[in-house]
Amino acid sequence: MLGFSVNGTKGNMQIETLSWKGEAEGTLEMIDQTLLPTQFKTLGFSGGNLEGVWEAIHSLRVRGAPAIGIAAAYGVCIGLQSVLDETDEAAFFKRLDEVATSLAGSRPTAVNLFWALDRMRKAAGETRRLMDETGTFSAREVATRMLAEARAIHEEDRRICHAIGKSGEPLIPDGAGVLTHCNAGGLATSEYGTALAVFACAHEAGKNIRVYADETRPLLQGARLTAWEMLQRGIPVTVICDSMAAQVMREGKVQAVVVGADRIAANGDTANKIGTYGVACLAHLHGIPFYVAAPKSTFDLTLATGDAIPIEQRNPEEVTRGFGRQTVPDGVDVYNPAFDVTPAKYIKGIITEFGVVSPVTEENIRAMLGKPAASKETQG
Ligand code: MRU
Repeated sequence: MLGFSVNGTKGNMQIETLSWKGEAEGTLEMIDQTLLPTQFKTLGFSGGNLEGVWEAIHSLRVRGAPAIGIAAAYGVCIGLQSVLDETDEAAFFKRLDEVATSLAGSRPTAVNLFWALDRMRKAAGETRRLMDETGTFSAREVATRMLAEARAIHEEDRRICHAIGKSGEPLIPDGAGVLTHCNAGGLATSEYGTALAVFACAHEAGKNIRVYADETRPLLQGARLTAWEMLQRGIPVTVICDSMAAQVMREGKVQAVVVGADRIAANGDTANKIGTYGVACLAHLHGIPFYVAAPKSTFDLTLATGDAIPIEQRNPEEVTRGFGRQTVPDGVDVYNPAFDVTPAKYIKGIITEFGVVSPVTEENIRAMLGKPAASKETQG
C-alpha cells in the first residue's frame, strides 16, 4: 500500500484508487485523479448514481486501463441499486443491459472496460440460469453475486500487478535510468501498477534506479501522477517535458523504457497514451529496449493488428485551455487523439503476469494467453 501526501511530503495515510464500502447498496469510493498532485479528494458514489460513475470515467477522475475496468465493474453495481427490490426478472435484466451499455460508452480505447463489463454480464447470466432452474428470482441476490464478481476483478488485479512487477524486474539493470510515459502505476490499477510495478520491484530489490517521467501532454498524467507516485514510494524521479525524451536518451541517461497499455492487438501492436509511439521510435533509434507491461485483460485477440484499435478523440479544450489557461488562439483547429499505436516491431517484450513475451509475435502472445490460433474464444 502506498503512503500518502499531497505535493511531495510523504505521509502515512493509505491510498486506494477504488474501494467499495458495504454490500449491494453500498458506496464506491474513488480518488479524484484530476485534482492530484495539489489536492487529495475521495469521491463517493451510491444511491444508483450511474451517471456519476460514467462522468468520473469519462473525465479521467478514474483512469488507466485496469482501474477503468474495475470502476466499470463497480459501476454496474451502482447502476443496479435502483432495482434491488425489483420483482420482475425481465425488468431487472433490462436495467442491467442499460447500465452496461451506458458504461461501455464512457471511453472507447482501454479494452479492460469491455472485458470487465463482459465478465459482469456473464456473472449475471450464470446466476440467472441457476435461479431459473429453481424458479426463484431475487434481484438482490443477483446484485450481490455481481458485487462479488466486481470484488474478484479488483482482487485479481492486485495479484496480477505484483506478478507483473516480478516478471519485469530482471529486465532493469542496477544503476539504470528508466523512462516511462503517462501513468501506469497504482493510481491506474488496483494499487501497485503495471509499468511502475516493474520499477517498484527493481527499487525494492535494492537496485539504484532513476525514473524519467514524461510529463505527458495534454493532461500531464506523468508530471502529476507518476511523479507523485514515485515520491510516495521513495523512488528517484525526474520529470521531463515530452519533447526532451530524445535529448535525455542521447545523453545516455536511459537504459530501458517501460510503459503501460490500453489495448494490445493479436500481433502485439499496442495502444497507449498519445506520445508513446514517438517514445518507442526514439528508443529504437537509440538502441534502448522498449517494453510494454500489461495484464491478460488488456489483450484483444479479436483485432488482428493495431489498425483496428479505436482511438479516443477528446475535447480540443484539453489542448487549447489545459488546466484553465488559454494557450492557443481562438478559432484554431485542434486535433486531440488520446492514444496512439506502437507497432509490435518496436516492442522488445511485453511484460505480463505470466512472464515476458519476447519476441513479440502473435504466436508467442497466443501461447502466453493459452489461446492457440484455432481457438474460437477471443477474450477472458
Ligand atoms: O487517458 P488515460 O490516463 O486513462 O491513459 C492511461 C494510459 O495510457 C496508461 O498507460 C494505460 O492505461 C495503462 S495503466 C496501467
